[in-house]
Amino acid sequence: MKKVVAVDGPAGAGKSTVAKIVADKMGYTYIDTGAMYRAVAYKTLQMKKNVTDELILKAAADIDITLRYENGATRVFEGGAEITDKIRTPEINAIVSQVAKLGAVRDKMTGLQRKMAQSDAVIMDGRDIGTVVLPRADLKIFLVASVEERAKRRHKELTEKGHDVSFEEIKKSIENRDKTDSEREIAPLKQADDAILLDTTGLTIEEVTAKIIELCQG
Ligand code: DC
Repeated sequence: MKKVVAVDGPAGAGKSTVAKIVADKMGYTYIDTGAMYRAVAYKTLQMKKNVTDELILKAAADIDITLRYENGATRVFEGGAEITDKIRTPEINAIVSQVAKLGAVRDKMTGLQRKMAQSDAVIMDGRDIGTVVLPRADLKIFLVASVEERAKRRHKELTEKGHDVSFEEIKKSIENRDKTDSEREIAPLKQADDAILLDTTGLTIEEVTAKIIELCQG
């Protein structure tokens, strides 16, 4: 079995959904690195000031993030308080790419992520796991899907949680995040040379997970 698995790709490609299922079936610890950038965004918004790079850096400097993966779900804590649900809102989505652009924030998160990957068999998802965080991962997967399909998935996820957002708004927000994440200077979203490309458009979750499990076992 592959010990360290990296799953990268754009927002809504299905990374966390499939990574969690693969983790449960194969006994990996699942690490959701996007949740860490979201925690920094959350802490920044808590300061209730204009969001500037300086404010983000201040939030990141003394952030204390804990991820606890239990019963198929990641619980996120900041300074001991649970923020699991608070980091998945349209407000956080709107600023998280700005947070993730900053070198000092990325350095800090990358260091924490590498430490988390040291002990167990892990499956880690994000944007730069195969390229920067764990370049020597045993298996790298780059998951993609069309913008339409990704927007549909996020719309369903958010409306189910009671957020009142339109499909068009979500699509726009995903397009903006794709652009910022892929065009940023430091650790942009891109497929690692040795990653396997998997397009999930039109595939079921079962089909995608079966394919990844096969690769993990190979
Ligand atoms: O996967 P997600 O939507 O929860 O990620 C939130 C944001 O964090 C995403 O817009 C880009 C950023 N991110 C990143 O830059 N690097 C990672 N390894 C994970 C997420």
